[in-house]
Order: sequence, then C-alpha cells, then structure tokens
Amino acid sequence: MLFANRKKMTMKAVRFHDFGGPEVLRYEEADQPVAGEGQVLIRVAGSAFNPADNGIRSGTLPFPVSLPHVPGYDVSGIVEAVGAGVTTLHVDDAVIGFIPMGEDGSAAEYVVAPADVLVAAPSGIDLADAAGLPSVALTAWQGLFDLGGLKDGQRVLITGAGGAVGGYAVQLAGRAGAYVIATASPRSHDAVAAAGANEVIDHSSTSVLDSVTEPVDLLLNLAPISPEEFASLVDLVRDGGIVVATTAWMTTPGDDKRGVRTAGVFVEPKVDELAQLVSLVDRGELTVDIAQRVPLSELPSIHAKAAAGEVHGKVVAVPN
Ligand SMILES: NC(=O)c1ccc[n+]([C@@H]2O[C@H](COP(=O)([O-])OP(=O)(O)OC[C@H]3O[C@@H](n4cnc5c(N)ncnc54)[C@H](OP(=O)(O)O)[C@@H]3O)[C@@H](O)[C@H]2O)c1
Repeated sequence: MLFANRKKMTMKAVRFHDFGGPEVLRYEEADQPVAGEGQVLIRVAGSAFNPADNGIRSGTLPFPVSLPHVPGYDVSGIVEAVGAGVTTLHVDDAVIGFIPMGEDGSAAEYVVAPADVLVAAPSGIDLADAAGLPSVALTAWQGLFDLGGLKDGQRVLITGAGGAVGGYAVQLAGRAGAYVIATASPRSHDAVAAAGANEVIDHSSTSVLDSVTEPVDLLLNLAPISPEEFASLVDLVRDGGIVVATTAWMTTPGDDKRGVRTAGVFVEPKVDELAQLVSLVDRGELTVDIAQRVPLSELPSIHAKAAAGEVHGKVVAVPN
C-alpha cells in the first residue's frame, strides 16, 4: 500500500508559467503532487482537452489559477495513493472525474483530486478514452435535464450537435424519448445521425429557422453562432418553453411575453449524475467517441490547433 506522505518525487507535466497563446505551454519536469486530506493521487491514463482549456491558458476565462499551472480538468486513471480521511476509494481503483478547474490538472503523469468528485471508470472501454466523458457528458445532462427539464415525448433542437458535448446531448435526449433535431455541418452529419438524431440540419448550407417546421420545447445551444442568429432561433421555441446555452460569453435570449425562459449551463461535478453516465456506458447505452489520442508531450500542438479552429471532436492526451 502506498501512502500519501511519501518522499517528494518528480513527473512529466504540461504547464504554463505565464498566461498567453499555446506557445506558453511547456512539457517539463514538475514535482509530483501529494494527496492531502480528502484527496487521492491518480496515475493519469487520459487527460481530455476541452475548448475552455484555451481560455484558462490565455487568461480570458475567469478561473484564478496559480502559476505555473497544469491544465486539464477531465481525468481518467488509477488511484496511486489515498489521503487522510478517504474511505470511498482505494489504491488501484480505476476512476474518472471532472476535477476542480482552478487547481493543477490532469495534463501530467499524476494529479491529485478530491475523492468526492471521482467515480469508478466505465469497465468496457479503454481507460484513457474514459477521460472524454466527465465534464462533457455532465454538460449535456445538466443542460437537457437539470436546466432544460426535457421529458419523454418532447421536442428538442440542439444547435452545435456536431461537437463533443453535442454527441452526448443527442444520445441522451433520444434515450430519454425526446424527438431530436440537431444541426451539424457535413463533417459531423454521419456522427450526429448515428447518435440518434431524428433530423439533422446542415447549418452551413441551410437556414435552421426555415428547416424546423414545428415548435420545440427546448432549444439547447452549443454552437458559436452570433447573438443575432441565437435570438432569431427563439421563435422556434413554443410558448412556455426554454432556451438553454453553454455559450456563456453571450446572453441567452428568451421571450418574456411568450413565457420562453432561459438558463445558462455552468457545469457542476455532480458525482451521482456522473455515476449514472458511467452506468449507461457500461450498459452500451451511451457511446464515448474519441476523435484522437495524442502523447501528452504533444498537447501543446492540440492547443495550437484548437486555437486555429482545427480540432474536431474529443482529443485525449496520454502520458508518454
Ligand atoms: N458553460 C459550460 O459549463 C460549458 C461546459 C462545456 C462546454 N461548454 C462550451 O460549449 C460549447 C460546445 O462544447 P464542445 O466541447 O462540444 O465544442 P466543440 O467540440 O468545439 O463543438 C462545437 C460545434 O459547434 C458547431 N458549430 C460551429 N459553428 C456553428 C454554427 N455557425 N452553427 C451551428 N453549429 C456550429 C461545430 O459543429 P460542426 O461539426 O457541425 O461544424 C462544432 O463541432 C463550447 O463553446 C464550450 O466551450 C460550456
């Protein structure tokens, strides 16, 4: 059994010492963290890249990280050591989690995380790929159900369904019995159709406004559309319906006169929901779709490609 207070060791990590462009990232030696009370030390199997990683690294997203900082807030791996007071997890447990965004993250060989944000990893998929599940699938779940209140038989329009969150949102909404209308450009069409969308609208060549013929109960926006286009889509929501968005940089439009409410997702690490998502994966009812696995040392190039709009789908970095 390994204990948390062992002698100081080093590890490889991707870190930034200053805020800025992707060039501030360094693949370097760092002190291995030590699990404190209520925490565990995880030997990282996978660290998922998220669009928000670019915002945190550039300093444009308001997470007060201390420098140098290790990015990466989705993790999969094996518990290497447990801190004081941890009774729910044990050494050698395979775990996943959406770990605190303001703390050092998973783009490293080891990371510490609060035990209470971690759940058992899905058993039927590669452990590294399981890093692609936590924050992204939680975002879809919270947007559709916690905020959107989506129910069996309702209609949902998911704009930006071709991305990582969208893949889960389409699957989860369909599984809940909703009629799913999704927007996707040709590069994402087949994946969105395979995820179970009832209708797929090519937002790159067609007017979404003209293509939806009956009102929807929920509009879930995941796409970087203009505020004007977003506001126009509210016409598609039925009276008393709701608009939910993950696109926190712009106001979510509603319509008070028609009782169309609004809500913004700020994804939370709810472990009961994450455990349910893992169960769905284990039962084959939810697919984790990983576009690319890269060695951890190549994570800086993924940040650069993402900043240039060249990353499509979920990328997982794997310690070399
Ligand atoms: N607030 C939160 O807590 C939270 C949590 C997670 C994510 N987010 C945000 O939610 C958004 C989605 O995340 P993600 O990881 O799924 O991002 P992503 O993988 O980059 O996907 C975004 C998708 O938007 C689509 N898109 C681009 N321009 C569009 C347009 N004009 N009309 C319709 N669709 C368009 C693209 O689909 P095509 O393939 O069809 O071109 C792209 O795949 C991001 O902005 C992310 O930062 C917020």
